[in-house]
Amino acid sequence: MNYKAPRGTHDIFGANALAMSLLEQQARVIFKKHGFEEIRTPAFEDAALFMRSIGQTTDIVEKEMYIFEDRKSRKLALRPEGTASLVRAFIENRLDISMPAGRFFYIGEMFRYERPQTGRYRQFHQVGAEFLGNPSPAADAEIIILAQDLLFSVGIKEMDVRVNSLGCEKCRYLFREALVKYFCSVRDLCEDCIRRLEKNPLRVLDCKTDSHKFTGVPRISDYLCDYCKDSFNLVLSLLESAGCNYTADEKLVRGLDYYTRTVFEIRSDAVGSQDALVAGGRYDNLVGELGGQNTPAVGFALGSERVLLAARNTGFFDSFQESEKIFIAIADQELFNEAFSFAVKMIRNGSKSGKDISVFGPVNGKSLTSQLKFADKIKAVKTIVFAKTEFENGKFLVKNMKDKTQVEVLIDEL
Ligand code: HAM
Repeated sequence: MNYKAPRGTHDIFGANALAMSLLEQQARVIFKKHGFEEIRTPAFEDAALFMRSIGQTTDIVEKEMYIFEDRKSRKLALRPEGTASLVRAFIENRLDISMPAGRFFYIGEMFRYERPQTGRYRQFHQVGAEFLGNPSPAADAEIIILAQDLLFSVGIKEMDVRVNSLGCEKCRYLFREALVKYFCSVRDLCEDCIRRLEKNPLRVLDCKTDSHKFTGVPRISDYLCDYCKDSFNLVLSLLESAGCNYTADEKLVRGLDYYTRTVFEIRSDAVGSQDALVAGGRYDNLVGELGGQNTPAVGFALGSERVLLAARNTGFFDSFQESEKIFIAIADQELFNEAFSFAVKMIRNGSKSGKDISVFGPVNGKSLTSQLKFADKIKAVKTIVFAKTEFENGKFLVKNMKDKTQVEVLIDEL
């Protein structure tokens, strides 16, 4: 039986693993500058947490969650996103009391049962940030700028920042009524739309089948109250003054129910149809709805795989070379112990020049020829050969694996 990784999942290794960890390293640097602290939450949670937070009628909850029962019949779900978990942790650990203005970031795997294609997977990685306790539009602008800085930091320069406001409950109530009236006049809505129209008319706007029929659909901007309008304008003017190019996009509604007021996406045309690299927005009611103190919040998450796809042609990751590989070989088997302890010393102390090196070998019981073949296979830059005569004179042979020249070097010099 040949086992394969489950559909929509990938093994990440070699250059891709290096790029993924460089992205995470860059993110940590940027998060530190903005004062965000790391939080790690479990990869699975009570399924009801996601249903309540993300919304019963969203695609994620209706079709995409990995739900299972544990041995005590608890209904659990692999996390499809990080915001609900963060808010659960914020409340459970009483951070709403001790850190009312908390800035958190997380990095980790998320799971959604979606149809796999380039940029869309069943297990993928998100780097996310959540800023709790700050109701100011300045927090929204900072979050968008932070997300953009992250993309800049891996060499992505071309991006399309889309921003919209979904208003507060009052604006949404009026908008919802207008939508229901409008959709009732649209003929032949699909089954999903009819169901959503009853439960959550805003979700009808998401429909991929019927959207071409929605000409003259009500616009949220016509229903924003003065406060929401002013907040949105302030977000936009702050973005402008920070030099962020954006497009205000009324069609942006996002696929999660917890959003209030600002929502945004950052897209790239370098990645095909799954073009949203980053998505986020404000969710002022979620902490209260999940049982915490009412705490305004705003955040985003980027999809690491999509960001790496967008960054692949920027050359950013090529500039980070792997460390130089050094192989330790033995021409005489009795020198194995000396060669081994030398390798350990070299691993611990690094090279004298301060160059980044990785040390391999020695290998016991192999001829020198097969050791050198192995050194070529792992692309060693140099091989240090322990040979009896030279060793007795306090020397090694150092072989340059590219041009195959070799020189004698004093042990003390190396
Ligand atoms: P989301 O739009 O569901 O929002 O996902 C955020 C990002 O994760 C997307 O823009 C995309 O880059 C990536 N992503 C989503 N699904 C997949 C997939 N199947 N395969 C690969 N990448 C994917 C959220 O998750 C919200 N929690 C964001 C947020 C944080 N809002 C406020 N705070």
